[in-house]
Amino acid sequence: MKNICKFYFLLLLVFLTSFTKKNVLTVRSPNKQIEATIEVSDDAVHYSIKYKNTPFIKPSNLGFEFTGVKALNKNLEVIGFENSNSNTTWSQVWGENKEILDNYNQLKVELQEKDGLKRKMNIIFKVYDDGIGFRYEIPKQQNIDNISITKELTEFNFIKNHTAWYIPANFDSYEMLYKKAPISDVISANTPITFETTDGFFASIHEANLTNYADMTLLKSENNSFSFQCNLVPWPDGVKVKTKAPMETPWRTIQITDKASELVESNLILNLNEPNKLEDTSWIEPMKYIGIWWGMHIGTQTWTLGERHGANTFNTKKYIDFASKHNIKGVLTEGWNTGWENWGKKDAFDFVTPYEDFNLKEIAEYAKLKNVSYIGHVETGGAAESFQENFDKIFSMYHDLGVKTVKTGYAGGIQTKGQFHHGQFMVNHYDAVVKSAAKYHIMIDAHEPIKATGIRRTYPNMMTREGARGMEWNGWSSGNPPDHHTILPFTRGLGGPLDYTPGIFDVLYKNAKNRVKWNDLDDGTSRVNTTIAKQLALFVVLYSPLQMASDLIENYENQPAFKFIEDLGVDWEVSKVVNGKIGDYITVVRKDKLNGNWFLGSITNENERDLKIPLTFLEKDTNYRAEIYADGENTNWRTNPQEIEISQKEVNSKGVLDIKLAAGGGQAIRFVPIK
Ligand code: NOJ
Ligand code: CA
Repeated sequence: MKNICKFYFLLLLVFLTSFTKKNVLTVRSPNKQIEATIEVSDDAVHYSIKYKNTPFIKPSNLGFEFTGVKALNKNLEVIGFENSNSNTTWSQVWGENKEILDNYNQLKVELQEKDGLKRKMNIIFKVYDDGIGFRYEIPKQQNIDNISITKELTEFNFIKNHTAWYIPANFDSYEMLYKKAPISDVISANTPITFETTDGFFASIHEANLTNYADMTLLKSENNSFSFQCNLVPWPDGVKVKTKAPMETPWRTIQITDKASELVESNLILNLNEPNKLEDTSWIEPMKYIGIWWGMHIGTQTWTLGERHGANTFNTKKYIDFASKHNIKGVLTEGWNTGWENWGKKDAFDFVTPYEDFNLKEIAEYAKLKNVSYIGHVETGGAAESFQENFDKIFSMYHDLGVKTVKTGYAGGIQTKGQFHHGQFMVNHYDAVVKSAAKYHIMIDAHEPIKATGIRRTYPNMMTREGARGMEWNGWSSGNPPDHHTILPFTRGLGGPLDYTPGIFDVLYKNAKNRVKWNDLDDGTSRVNTTIAKQLALFVVLYSPLQMASDLIENYENQPAFKFIEDLGVDWEVSKVVNGKIGDYITVVRKDKLNGNWFLGSITNENERDLKIPLTFLEKDTNYRAEIYADGENTNWRTNPQEIEISQKEVNSKGVLDIKLAAGGGQAIRFVPIK
């Protein structure tokens, strides 16, 4: 008996050793269409990707270089691997969809150096039907303590010269216009970068769960014009990431779908983040808001104290009254606190002292009385450290005043010498803001943020962020061209909610009285390059749980089109992308979690367009009143942007709507079930 046991044990050992020596491992998506392979040889660790049996990414490097020690990318062997899978559904606290399917196959590969320090590293692949995420883990081990990464060797070696939509890599800003170019012409890129492949399917490279690490930008690899390498944003000393074992990297993500619209519907980024860590989320509340904001951007008001100071008690109360009357929950004021006169100087703000014409306490009380949620503003001017030193003072002040949302901003360079907005130092700062705010039950809307990578799942008080060329650029530059909005959902939008701040009705404000040019980008010709109907449609197309109607309230008074914003839902049961072509057009529909109304937003670039929209998304056997906000016969973003036609008709799920979009136009519809 003993001998038989021994025999079996030896057999098992032989079996296991031959298994663990295996150096090519493969994992496929649940629907078997996406396949990831990892290959370990003496010289390198490579991964490759196939879609529908066709190679998409050919063998590409994995590994790291460090300060002071040898790179971890060669002379490695597979010492173990594990296949697993999961198929569950989880619920969002708020979002585009209430329920999210999380269905993937996983491969975890354990690697160890064959000799020398015998360091260990794991690589984990999760393969979904809509893409792949992979990450590195450096486990706790004897020969590694502090880790100082000088280069992450991850590469993306495309086989063909696909078309890319991207903004060039930038360590401080994502506020740029997207470019369309063949991969061979892309020198560097921020992520998400999105591709229409020569084989007709779509893909996007980004990252998920960017925590305690540096932002990944992409840099064209030397000697291969179809290949990118990961280029992490550095610390002032050139090191990219400073950490300790055990550590794990963000997920490197490659979304892959047949249609462009399916990229926008993909939940891959959220699925690759950790579940909600906040026990009590009852205080978190998606909402619409207005604010004293646009006047400063078009130069009719100022952030600083003076004759044209926007944020005074009287004006803010007017905004609170308007909000309360028009089903808008939030009111923001910018330029309420001292320091704006010291713009550009170090630590200009103390973040808590109001200007003499602004009574914060009185305003907070007035808002409460009117059932309005006052939104605080912390502009740091790049003084992140000084903000962080004062978290408790600032967030407790807001908490005590009953303020539940704070908009943050980091305009200008980061004041800590040599730090970039997107390096590990700032990634950790943005993370600290969200955690500290959560302690005080405060939601965050971050401008000049780190890019969205799905952290909102783990900390659902991280509501929304900018990180794109938003509405403000129309106030003081040549503005955002009509195709900008038809690219954003397929690129920046894949990361998560965007505080674009749509809703300008006076699209020709350049004629506004007393307008003062306040920066060099303003040549006096600025305007919003869309029709009004498109402004309405953007509220549906560009998802954000905090949606700002950004115009001056006087431009909303007595405007029938404002009813769409009044009626607009803030949180969604389900969202669908009905159609879309990157840079040309997109149509999105969302079902209101609260009352079963559906909302549709459809937008086009500079070309007019007729679209047919099958209403199959509506509930069967229910008739709906469609309230339609459309471009008129002669509407045109350039020559006649303000014309809008409002009409109603009865529809049901069997119908097909003919939608006519003007050049630079759009259409917004509310569908109300008829009882
Ligand atoms: C830039 C932000 O994006 C904008 O919304 C804000 O008004 C200004 N900074 C001033 O804080
Ligand atoms: Ca900005």
